[in-house]
Amino acid sequence: MQRVCVIGLGPIGNRHAAIYQEHAGCELVGLCDVDRPRADKAAETFGVPAFYSVDEMLSKLSPTMASVATGGVEYGSDHYEPTMQALAHGCHVLCEKPICNEIAPALEMVHQATTRGLCFGINLNHRFTPAARLAKQWVDDGRIGHQLFMNMSMWISNPNESSPWFQIKALHPHTVDIMRYYCGDIEAVQCFVTKAPGRRIWSTAQFGMRFASGSIGQLTGSYDIERGHPMERCELAGVNGRFVIDDLYREATLYAAGDPQKIVYTNPVFGGFRDFGDTFRDRLGTFVDQLNDGVAPAEVDGSGADGLAAQKVLAAAIESVQTESIVKVDELFPD
Ligand SMILES: NC(=O)c1ccc[n+]([C@@H]2O[C@H](COP(=O)([O-])OP(=O)(O)OC[C@H]3O[C@@H](n4cnc5c(N)ncnc54)[C@H](O)[C@@H]3O)[C@@H](O)[C@H]2O)c1
Repeated sequence: MQRVCVIGLGPIGNRHAAIYQEHAGCELVGLCDVDRPRADKAAETFGVPAFYSVDEMLSKLSPTMASVATGGVEYGSDHYEPTMQALAHGCHVLCEKPICNEIAPALEMVHQATTRGLCFGINLNHRFTPAARLAKQWVDDGRIGHQLFMNMSMWISNPNESSPWFQIKALHPHTVDIMRYYCGDIEAVQCFVTKAPGRRIWSTAQFGMRFASGSIGQLTGSYDIERGHPMERCELAGVNGRFVIDDLYREATLYAAGDPQKIVYTNPVFGGFRDFGDTFRDRLGTFVDQLNDGVAPAEVDGSGADGLAAQKVLAAAIESVQTESIVKVDELFPD
């Protein structure tokens, strides 16, 4: 049974707190935000003590796990400090995405968790759906076979104009993680960017990727498209078959090569995912369940290392835009 604290109580931290309070494998014991009214309001909602200092909360409550839902510049600069504090207190940490908006602190976060033998996960919630797991099973069972290409895309509306690279760094941890989940490491990236009329930041991007396996991938994403329609599509093709996942959990279709019949998984009305919020329930719940099962830190699903790997690919994409060149991830970040 985990004793959980949530750090950062914006909309997302409140969502985390509600999920932990519902989950049978853990107990929500404390909440912290440097913004006192936010901390107080959440404490009232969830009926647990409010703190305004992370260290004070961790010292007083000694939780086994902390959920870091702070934001900051490019939605990630405020993740480093509380994550390092929680790890220093011996807590396992689940941190929101992106792991961090810069690579050097992200490396330290992963290193600190590894050194202390603690579990460190990132909220890469888009891979935590029944449809995504089924597609992974298709890959593992050889139904895709030798991989040829992936087409990944995600588009939502986000009018925030905080930094030119906001869309790349804050939206695409999800999409790059999905690409890596099915196809493994990405070794080379080429990226082009554009923007909707009136926008100042690079709010739409297209990336060409080469995986270490030799297969190739395309990723398109945008912060310029209003919600209401589908928002994500993932297609993976190999010599034995091809799958398409529509909208994270809604539908997954397997087209076996040479077979005119297709296999379709449709999110069930009874017992299926209700909405996007269930991706959070599944992801946070999986982390708690893995901890309760005594998972080894290296086996955490959607780990800090996965979050770091995605961010390195995105940094390579930004380098590609700036230099108008193909960027090799390992050359940009030699060990
Ligand atoms: N996984 C997803 O699908 C998904 C979706 C949306 C947002 N997010 C992520 O969730 C995170 C939070 O988003 P939000 O909209 O709730 O952000 P927000 O800015 O509204 O809230 C963050 C809160 O953290 C607090 N905070 C910052 N540093 C702190 C510290 N050191 N100690 C205590 N409190 C601190 C701030 O005061 C603020 O109240 C972001 O990183 C974002 O990328 C994830």
